[in-house]
Amino acid sequence: MPTINRYDVLIVGSGAAGLSLALQLPRSLSIAVVSKSQLGAGSTFWAQGGMAAVLHDRDSVEAHVADTLKAGAGLCHEPAVHFTVGRSRQCVEWLIDQGMHFDLREDQADAEFREFHLTMEGGHSHRRVIHAADQTGRAISEVLVSRVEEAPNISLLKDRCLVDVIKMGDRICGAYLLAASGDGVDTFAADAVVLATGGASKAYRYTTNPDGASGDGIAAAWRAGCRVANLEFNQFHPTCLFHPESRSFLMTEALRGEGATLHLADNTRFMPSFDDRAELAPRDIVARAIDHEMKRLGADCVYLDISHRPKDFIIRHFPKAYEKCLSLGIDMTEERIPVVPAAHYTCGGVVVNQYGATDVPGLYVVGESACTGLHGANRMASNSLLECFVYAQSAASHIAESLVPQNANPTPWDDSRVRDSDEEVVIQHNWQELRRLMWDYVGIVRTTRRLEYAAQRISLLEREVAGYYARFQISRPLLEMRNLARVSALMVESASGRKESRGLHFNSDYPDTSPLKRDSILIPSNFDRRTALTGAVDQLPQYTA
Ligand code: FUM
Repeated sequence: MPTINRYDVLIVGSGAAGLSLALQLPRSLSIAVVSKSQLGAGSTFWAQGGMAAVLHDRDSVEAHVADTLKAGAGLCHEPAVHFTVGRSRQCVEWLIDQGMHFDLREDQADAEFREFHLTMEGGHSHRRVIHAADQTGRAISEVLVSRVEEAPNISLLKDRCLVDVIKMGDRICGAYLLAASGDGVDTFAADAVVLATGGASKAYRYTTNPDGASGDGIAAAWRAGCRVANLEFNQFHPTCLFHPESRSFLMTEALRGEGATLHLADNTRFMPSFDDRAELAPRDIVARAIDHEMKRLGADCVYLDISHRPKDFIIRHFPKAYEKCLSLGIDMTEERIPVVPAAHYTCGGVVVNQYGATDVPGLYVVGESACTGLHGANRMASNSLLECFVYAQSAASHIAESLVPQNANPTPWDDSRVRDSDEEVVIQHNWQELRRLMWDYVGIVRTTRRLEYAAQRISLLEREVAGYYARFQISRPLLEMRNLARVSALMVESASGRKESRGLHFNSDYPDTSPLKRDSILIPSNFDRRTALTGAVDQLPQYTA
């Protein structure tokens, strides 16, 4: 009889959201945190800029809320914005209690109490991004991982890929996880399952994201009957390093916050002619301006220049970026850095309420996989780490208060009727095709015809992948392709339904913004209206006081 692995809470994903949630659950619960690869391979680890928080005397929750709403282009869910921003200081304090060290102001070196060094990023009206040089995510990851490793009630399971969550009746009672190196699929039972698997930017050919960002949690929650929202809003980071030996290295927005400017090959600075905020306009505006200039001139890239700042300042604040550029022969203290926009962040995701709870009892989604309503049509820089910590904390208290032992016995995974695949190469080709067509047809600028073409191609790819899934032993590439194809189809469907341009979604057949503000909420065919969260099915959930 195959073994069933039992935990009170199963958390799939080991980034900021997953780890901080595990640490805030009661020690009396047995918890498994599942990492898709080795720890530190996810998006949190690679986050450079930092976390937005209201910490300075001259800043205020109202100002941070107003900036977030403005960047979100009319679609932020205001209760979610207040809920998140209002908890930002508390999240910073919690991280410091865990052992996190953020950078302090250098100009106060002799003072008894030094303030945090807060950096600036696009869309913010104040310096409010707390950070650890340009490796904030790595520092946070290391602190949280070491806390989790000390916790006797938390098991860290590495190299396991989510196949699907398991539903019995109307609730989720576990998940199937593929072990690394062909060790088969394990069955896990849990009273609550949390998906913290990150976004789906790997759907695009060029991305700043690590390999695991294949939308696993979004696709699995959809298959389990959860609604998804606002998936057309995929954020393209304006400045990814452009170099043949380095495809996805981010040049942090904090560089522009500290004065870096954007130039064409002939050194013309172009952002001031697109927006009064120039390089510090929100990302949708900067990415679209770069895309426009590259297409207009047939250029491969544009250039980011911070060489006017003192050398020691650049090296102290951006040690990772400096080291990376130097390894490629670019000395950013003296010369310009070639950059291009690349897919960076999935602003939409699985519809959740203020506790990270989905439409399906027993299933929670936190972090980039979720749509809380905070980001609206465009996420403001450095609001995402904040969202991870705020919703992880509220999900942890909700789980702690409401967990009821289910003693469920999910059916063990059965692969007796499938055979070994002899066609792995086809999956690779499908993946390349998907990522290319998403880049070409569902990118920074869309048209109705391109979206129709993308929908047709993706539906053929999905059919092919479904055939492989039914016939062959599953592998990580097959699972990722299946998830990316599903999430891409949902992105295209959301984009096709939006007959306007707003925030990150620009359709040149509908260049204007409609006065009607609406979320794109997609409902799976097996959606059970009885279990829907509060609020009408075509609205994001209401928040309670
Ligand atoms: O540019 C950056 O460092 C990215 C920040 C973010 O995506 O929030």
